[in-house]
Amino acid sequence: MTHEAPDMRIEALLQAMTLEEKVGQLTMVRGGAGAGGPELSPEQLDDVRAGRLGSILDIWAKDGIRRAQDVAVNESRLGIPLLVTLDVLHGYTTIFPIPLGEAAAFDPVLWEATARAAAVEAAAAHIALTYAPMLDVARDPRWGRIAESPGEDPWVAARFAEAKVRGFQHELAAPDTLAATAKHLGAYGAVTAGREYASVDISARSLHEVHLPAFAAAVAAGVAAIMPAFNDLAGVPMTANAAILQGLVRDRWGFDGVMISDFGAVAELIAHGVAADLAEAAALAMQAGVDIDMVSDVYPKGLAAAVHSGLIAEALVDAAVRRVLTLKARLGLLDDALRGSSKAPPDRRQAHRDLARDAARRAIVLLQNHGDLLPLRGEGKHLAVIGPLADAQKDMLGPWYAAGRADDTVSFLSGIRDALPGWRISHEAGCGIETADAGQFAAALQAARNADVVLLCLGEAAGMSGESASRARPDLPACQRRLAEAVFGLGKPVAVALGAGRPLTVPWLFEKADAVLATWFLGSEAGSALADVLTGAWNPGGKLPVSWPVAVGQMPIFYGQRPTGRPADPANRYTSQYLDIPVAPLFPFGHGLSYTRFLYGDLRLSAAEMSLGESVTVEVDIANDGPAQGEETAFLFIRDPLASIARPVLELKGMAKIALAPAASGTVRFALSCAEVAFPDAEGRPVLEAGIIEVLVGPSAERERMLKAVLQIAPFNEGATAADLK
Ligand code: BGC
Repeated sequence: MTHEAPDMRIEALLQAMTLEEKVGQLTMVRGGAGAGGPELSPEQLDDVRAGRLGSILDIWAKDGIRRAQDVAVNESRLGIPLLVTLDVLHGYTTIFPIPLGEAAAFDPVLWEATARAAAVEAAAAHIALTYAPMLDVARDPRWGRIAESPGEDPWVAARFAEAKVRGFQHELAAPDTLAATAKHLGAYGAVTAGREYASVDISARSLHEVHLPAFAAAVAAGVAAIMPAFNDLAGVPMTANAAILQGLVRDRWGFDGVMISDFGAVAELIAHGVAADLAEAAALAMQAGVDIDMVSDVYPKGLAAAVHSGLIAEALVDAAVRRVLTLKARLGLLDDALRGSSKAPPDRRQAHRDLARDAARRAIVLLQNHGDLLPLRGEGKHLAVIGPLADAQKDMLGPWYAAGRADDTVSFLSGIRDALPGWRISHEAGCGIETADAGQFAAALQAARNADVVLLCLGEAAGMSGESASRARPDLPACQRRLAEAVFGLGKPVAVALGAGRPLTVPWLFEKADAVLATWFLGSEAGSALADVLTGAWNPGGKLPVSWPVAVGQMPIFYGQRPTGRPADPANRYTSQYLDIPVAPLFPFGHGLSYTRFLYGDLRLSAAEMSLGESVTVEVDIANDGPAQGEETAFLFIRDPLASIARPVLELKGMAKIALAPAASGTVRFALSCAEVAFPDAEGRPVLEAGIIEVLVGPSAERERMLKAVLQIAPFNEGATAADLK
């Protein structure tokens, strides 16, 4: 390749390309001839040689990638390197907690750091683009992909988006970075009844208010790529949704990066019933702005036909190729197909393991701790570690674990053994995740009987969450319930480590367990992190990024509901409630206990009134009134009690952390701007209305525990625009 300015090189390449070579740049295949593999097949290498392939997914051997790049650069006519891509969601070799677990840390610094570490490791393996961050706001725990999401809140999802884009992309031209992909646009989390790949039919208002802000934040942070979702939105499959992909994301938000279809999604336009054949499917996706066809083989087979028959203009293809080549140039691929990763990178393994341990313990949420069973106290006692997740290295990795290895993962059992050398630790699985065996069961009960304290490690196998893992009954499999009930029946103190990619509907468990920790899928250092929390070496500070339901019937469940004309009133049947279960979740969004107690003092606003373009500072004093050092996350919510449309009963607008020693106190501060107080209209344009806003600060979305002040939004000239709000 020459070293002209990238745009000149790109234009020169475009000029030189045949239509077949252009389509090649827009075509992605999966490594190993369709099944994912260490290298490209001989036929795929022939396609690279002929300029018929521009990018690859799921190829994992460095040798295989080098070979493919060598063919692309040295044996194809134009010498354009391949874009090598992989799902690096929560780590590459060092695996961090699943995104839902990381979200529980409410910590953008951590979110950025783990993405940075993942990028460093993956880039060293010659990967250039990741399919992350996943930004689907998820409010239905039946949907398995809630595990990959930052949870139920749009404001949190937007902060998660910015942090992850910064972390993965860093300085994109540097050798140890990845291009990030914001996925899956949009509203995939709202699939009907939580059923994977189902239809989405929601209002334009909730689309703009709930599902799109994280994508807008990713675009503002400079995300390199976007992946449209599999679902349709009110009849328009996202892969063909020109109004959103083109009209909103490219034209209004100014996104100039690459759009990559989801896996096989261009071909699925035929199954959706909006395209008759391959040429129509190709034309619809191309018109919507989908640049790369991920493995559906529609662009290679249908795009040229669509151009020749006049369904689309070749200029659209040129624009897509230009964007793909621009990304390759931004990544430095046009100068070095391996982006400097052929040199051995500095050894950061230990630093990344330390980060994984820190991330994992920050992800753990102490849901319940009756009688202060935790942290474990005393010496020489007997702890029985029981349950199918006690020694389950592979399951600790969760879904999408890239190059993570089970044998490189600290199980709960080994972490606990290391941390409590003075204790007797016995272990019995008791049952499998979904299977029981009488002998195992009896041995577990015997171990529990002999113990001073029991730790039950229950939950899902990694494969029970993630893609294509919807569960109509997101609870514990029957054998685990039987095991738990039998252990509870012994009357011993019982702590439960509940591992899953979603909140599980197990109210019976919370009635009987003394302590319960949400342990999600914690990654490579799962066992060390759990041990840190059990021993009190780490005081848990994680909080729920999702409302924890009592029962499936409450789903979708989220705190940011709109008020009803008939708010729930147990004394009045004709109000918004259920006859058989409460309306409230078992644990609200933001719930999470600590080994200490935090007291919230006065709430102060820097001004009682806010005018257009201004912001106010909100301050709250917090004291540590308990026995341990700890870190508290405080949340800032607003409520607009009177507006032109009914506003949600609570909206998150800030989070702040404070670390306090026992008896110490300090102040948390939040900035609340006009832009945060504005709400989107049905087209997604911000609207600010004069009047009163309630400002609320508390430890969770539990209204009763919040401090409140009132802020006046001053009257202003109508016709103010988004720019005026800042
Ligand atoms: C998933 C995406 C993923 C892609 C590539 C699809 O099935 O929906 O999230 O990035 O596969 O592996």
